[in-house]
Amino acid sequence: MSRLVIVSNRVPAPRERGAAAGGLAVALREALAGREALWFGWSGSNHAPSYQPRQTRAGRVTFATIDLPQADFVGYYRGFSNGMLWPLLHHRMGLAEFRREDLAAYRRVNEGFAAALLPLLRPGDVVWVHDYHLIPLGAGLRRRGFGGRIGFFLHVPFPPRVIFEALPQGEDLLADFGAYDVLGVQTEEDAENLNEALARRGLPARAASFPIGIEPDTFAAEARAAAAGPDGARLRESLGQRALILGVDRLDYTKGLPQRFRGFAQLLRRFPEHRNRVTFLQVAPVSRGDVAQYRTLRRELDELAGRINGEHAEFDWVPLRYLTQTVPRTTLAGFQRIAGIGLVTPLRDGMNLVAKEFVAAQDPANPGALVLSRFAGAAQAMEGAILVNPHDPDEIAEALHIALTLPEAERRVRWERMWQAVRRNTAGSWARSFIAALDVAAARAA
Ligand code: G6P
Repeated sequence: MSRLVIVSNRVPAPRERGAAAGGLAVALREALAGREALWFGWSGSNHAPSYQPRQTRAGRVTFATIDLPQADFVGYYRGFSNGMLWPLLHHRMGLAEFRREDLAAYRRVNEGFAAALLPLLRPGDVVWVHDYHLIPLGAGLRRRGFGGRIGFFLHVPFPPRVIFEALPQGEDLLADFGAYDVLGVQTEEDAENLNEALARRGLPARAASFPIGIEPDTFAAEARAAAAGPDGARLRESLGQRALILGVDRLDYTKGLPQRFRGFAQLLRRFPEHRNRVTFLQVAPVSRGDVAQYRTLRRELDELAGRINGEHAEFDWVPLRYLTQTVPRTTLAGFQRIAGIGLVTPLRDGMNLVAKEFVAAQDPANPGALVLSRFAGAAQAMEGAILVNPHDPDEIAEALHIALTLPEAERRVRWERMWQAVRRNTAGSWARSFIAALDVAAARAA
């Protein structure tokens, strides 16, 4: 079997490489199992800047990381990746800020990645590049003579042409997509959008959808254990008889948090029978706090949370609990099992694995209900969820009211359908099908 080379902006930190890993590390664990692999990317630090990779080994996986020079990092990560591409790809041009020097840093870092990675590559390696930070990487490797297979997966949405065309020098980025043998995106809609953009440039329309998932059985077991643990007991005790509505998101403007807070306030206003009977816990760890738009959002949420609690709290009940600290993944799994309602309302999201985790965490005998944005990739296959337009707080309030009053039999039917969906596309099947597509592309080229 050929060696798999994963390239992503972030590489899991050493403490995450074991059992408690998050995000991409979890998704890839199964695909990497028993396979020789190299994982290359940014170390997460800028302390000892050098494009010379540092390597460590864990089992059959070698981790090679670089510390980026501060100036490159600022333009590449904070500037072009998260200040320009992130809002653009999430259909939020109004929040995007373009600077030529950021684009230059983005290209410099991608060139630096390609130059640093090339000497580590062996003939026969299969390279899999991840996400919007690294779109030009494949072309950089090709220019340096790498002839092996290279695939790219975009974890976030790809917007319609009219939005993408607003990106200065976006044509070059489209040409960069052309260097890959396989182009994966989350949904059919993303594939259509990317293919249309490529076709207009005369490039082959090769993008296909590979919906990412979780490991449902593992997550369910973690949730069961954590709910029975001390933090689970503390949470349950603090709730008393009240139902728990739970939101878990990075503190990001794509997640629809202000609209969600207002939706909860509308629930308390319009359906007063739920007053003092529900608690909404929103866990929103601060993310990209050095990007201006994220700081503005944080201030807005601080104020909203204060206002909602000031207006609706009673002397023995705080309706909204809002946390900006990080809560360990396994603790959250337990909280998701305890929650009667999962509230996942991004304005736009590539997939949203929290929605899938909520489903996996439920007790099949008495499952909770999921209120889900129709603009999350996860909504595509999630029959059984209560779908909402996340821009409308009143619609969120109505969906919460429905969720809070669903009879147990209907909750079970809805949950069963969602569980089937979560089991259909797992992390493992996602990785396997992408790698299989790379193998097919290689056979075609041979
Ligand atoms: C999204 C992106 C990932 C990114 C993650 C966390 O899920 O698709 O590529 O790693 O957010 O963001 P951060 O900027 O902290 O890496």
